[in-house]
Amino acid sequence: MRNRKTTTRPGVAPQRSAKSGDLLDWYDRHARALPWRARPGAAIDPYRVWLSEIMLQQTTVKTVAPYFMRFVARWPDVDALAAATLDDVLRLWAGLGYYARARNLHACAQAVAARGGFPETEAALVELPGIGRYTAAAIAAIAFNHRTVPVDGNVERVLSRLFAIEEELPAAKPEIHRRAQSLAPAQRAGDFAQALMDLGATLCTPAKPACALCPWIDSCAARRRGDPQSFPRKTPKREGRLRRGAAFVVVSADGRMLLRSRPPKGLLGGMTEVPTTVWSHDFDNDQALKEAPRLARASWRRLPGAVRHVFTHFPLELVVYATKLPHSANAPAGTRWVAIAELAGEALPSVMRKVVAHALDDLVPRRRAERREIRI
Ligand code: ADE
Repeated sequence: MRNRKTTTRPGVAPQRSAKSGDLLDWYDRHARALPWRARPGAAIDPYRVWLSEIMLQQTTVKTVAPYFMRFVARWPDVDALAAATLDDVLRLWAGLGYYARARNLHACAQAVAARGGFPETEAALVELPGIGRYTAAAIAAIAFNHRTVPVDGNVERVLSRLFAIEEELPAAKPEIHRRAQSLAPAQRAGDFAQALMDLGATLCTPAKPACALCPWIDSCAARRRGDPQSFPRKTPKREGRLRRGAAFVVVSADGRMLLRSRPPKGLLGGMTEVPTTVWSHDFDNDQALKEAPRLARASWRRLPGAVRHVFTHFPLELVVYATKLPHSANAPAGTRWVAIAELAGEALPSVMRKVVAHALDDLVPRRRAERREIRI
């Protein structure tokens, strides 16, 4: 079989080796304007770099931007965030997902405030709550210009194409890391890291990469082979098994809803929810009401349909039971009444917002127009 990777076929220019300077020149012309980025020549604030990197873990730039703006408006520096209550941080974080990040964010702010500022090295950064290998490298490079390259999924894609790495992910990670570090420039390491992120997000996209616009078009081995979108090679992932459960929505005639807080550790730790059954693979709907909150005079009605949500490790389907009480009876242990008009101020994760919206659509149909004004 013909060796398609040869660089000596007649009429075909030899492959250039990738130069960090080509990417930096492109970045100087095409860098995305993002709220956490310092303008060229302006001082870089490690607090803003750290905060954005935590928010950007598993979350898109578009989703993060408004949260980032609200956080820095409310807590302009790490000391202010360290002095906030965890409840306030969880409230402002609600909807961004992966709530362990918010708890670690708060713990990290307190650790950094106590030591008088952020450490600069990857080794010291990775010791702080919520900072893994990627985030440590991103902060060291962007905030402190340390010569390192943070490698996330986007950067893995760019590099696996640039070098046409045949090994499948995740086994290919060490090679990708080696290749990445070999490209890191001595100067402008932070710009180089962000340039790689921008290249992955805007041109070297999973489907239909815009190779014609790429500053590394002459260096890219996958492009030369003609199938860049087939990289990175991946071992197929098994989807988590479906878990199911029931959620119980209790509304009182005086406009309140029964809520509780999840345990501080674990999935959605410390966030607010309506009472639910355990979420399990073998959920038995016939037994669901045995786990409903104990309320005298509650007459439960199963609402049509179900609420679906996908967490990182499993999909979830919740059936919703609802009841309306004539007034706010004593809240069962571990639960509390919250005015429906004040739900927006609660740390309700997305799955619970879906449950509440599903139930209110059914329970308060005449107030549909008004409900648009209840921001949940
Ligand atoms: N993804 C992770 N970190 C990022 C950053 N600093 N800019 C843009 N996208 C990112």
